[in-house]
Amino acid sequence: MPGDSMDKPNIVTCTAPVNIAVIKYWGKRNEELILPINSSLSVTLHQDQLKTTTTVATSRSFQEDRIWLNGKEEDITHPRLQSCLREIRRLTRKRRNDGVPCLDLSCLSHKVRICSVNNFPTAAGLASSAAGFACLVYTLAQVFGVEGELSGIARQGSGSACRSMYGGFVQWIMGNQDDGKDSLAQQVEPETHWPELRVLVLVASAERKPVGSTSGMQTSVETSCLLKHRAESVVPGRMAEMIEAVQKKDFPTFAELTMKDSNQFHATCLDTYPPIFYLNSVSHQIISLVHRYNGHYRDTRVAYTFDAGPNAVIFTLQQHVPEFVQVLKHFFPPETKREQFIKGLPVNHAALSEELKQTIGLEPMPKGIRYIISTKAGPGPCVVEDPTQHLLGSDGLPK
Ligand code: DP6
Repeated sequence: MPGDSMDKPNIVTCTAPVNIAVIKYWGKRNEELILPINSSLSVTLHQDQLKTTTTVATSRSFQEDRIWLNGKEEDITHPRLQSCLREIRRLTRKRRNDGVPCLDLSCLSHKVRICSVNNFPTAAGLASSAAGFACLVYTLAQVFGVEGELSGIARQGSGSACRSMYGGFVQWIMGNQDDGKDSLAQQVEPETHWPELRVLVLVASAERKPVGSTSGMQTSVETSCLLKHRAESVVPGRMAEMIEAVQKKDFPTFAELTMKDSNQFHATCLDTYPPIFYLNSVSHQIISLVHRYNGHYRDTRVAYTFDAGPNAVIFTLQQHVPEFVQVLKHFFPPETKREQFIKGLPVNHAALSEELKQTIGLEPMPKGIRYIISTKAGPGPCVVEDPTQHLLGSDGLPK
C-alpha cells in the first residue's frame, strides 16, 4: 500500500576499514567455520584513505534478497555471504530470547538489499574482502539492532575480516574449540596509541593475483611442513613479542618482527607444493631497498610486509616518511604524466644525499611502483548518519 509505514524500508549505511597483518594468518583448521591454525595480528588502516561503504535495506515489500558490489550485481547465494546473513539473524533471535530489546523481529523475515563500494581500486590488491565482510556484518547488525561481539560472524565471511571489526592494533585469537566460539578478534591498542606510526601502500602493479588466499592456504596446509612448524612453534612466541612491541611503541622490534613474519609467510608459499609465488621483481627490489636503507642508518627505520600479492605495505615513523618517499621516487621513477604518485596523507619534500643513494646502490626500476597511498592506523567500523549517503534508494535499488 503506498504510503504505508510498514512498507517503508529500514535503511542503514556504514563504513569499515582495511587491515594489514603484521603476523600473518595463513591456513585453516576448519574451512566451513573459517578457523585458523594460528593467531594473527594486524593494523587497521585509516578509512580516510581506504574503506568500504555498505548500505543494507530491508522491507516487507522486497520480493528477493539482492546484492551489488562496486556497481555490479553479484550472486546472493554465495555461501560465505549466506553464512553471515544466517549468523546475524541467529544472533538477533538469541539476543531477543535473552530479553535484550531490539527491533521488531518481523524484520528478520524481510528480504534484504545490500549495496557496497570501495573507495580504493580493486587493482590496489588490498584485501577488499576483509573490509567488505566487516562492513556487511556491522551494517546488518545495525539494521537488526544487535550490538556487541560480531567478529565471530565477520570471520565466517573471510578470516581476515574479523580483524577489521576493530580499530588500531588487533589480534585474532585462534581459539581451540571445535565450534569456533573462542576464535575472535580483540583490540590490543586503539588507533590513538601510536600516532607517529605511518603506513605507505606501494601499489606495484594492476595484475590480478595468481592464486587466491582461500585456495592458496588450503594447498599450503595440505603440503607444507614449514607452515605446520610456523603455526605450532613460531607464531605463539611471535604474537607475544609483537603485542609487547606494540604496547611499548618499540619500532625496531615491531619492524623486525613484521619483516620476518612476512618473509616466513612467503617462505611457506614457496614450501607449498606446487609452490605459490606472490612476490615479483619489484617486491624483491623493495625488500633489498628497505634493508639497505636501514643498513645505512644502522637502525631499523622502515619495515615491509606483503600479503597474497606483489604490493608492499611499508611501516615507518612520521619523521622518516619524507626521506623514504624520496628514496622510493629515486629508485622507482614514476611515470610523470599519469595519476598523482602520492595519494592520501600529504608528504613533505625532503632532500636525498648522494651518500644514501650510493649505499643503496640499486639499479632504478622506472614505473615499478604505480602510486603510493600514504595513511596511518585508524578506527573500526562506523555508522554513516547522513541519509543522503545511502547507496540504495527506498525502492531497494542502487541510486
Ligand atoms: C595473506 O582472509 O583473504 O592476507 O579466510 O579464506 O577469506 P579467507 O582468507 P583471507 O586471507 C588473508 C591472508 C593474508 C594474511 C592476513 O591477512 O593475515
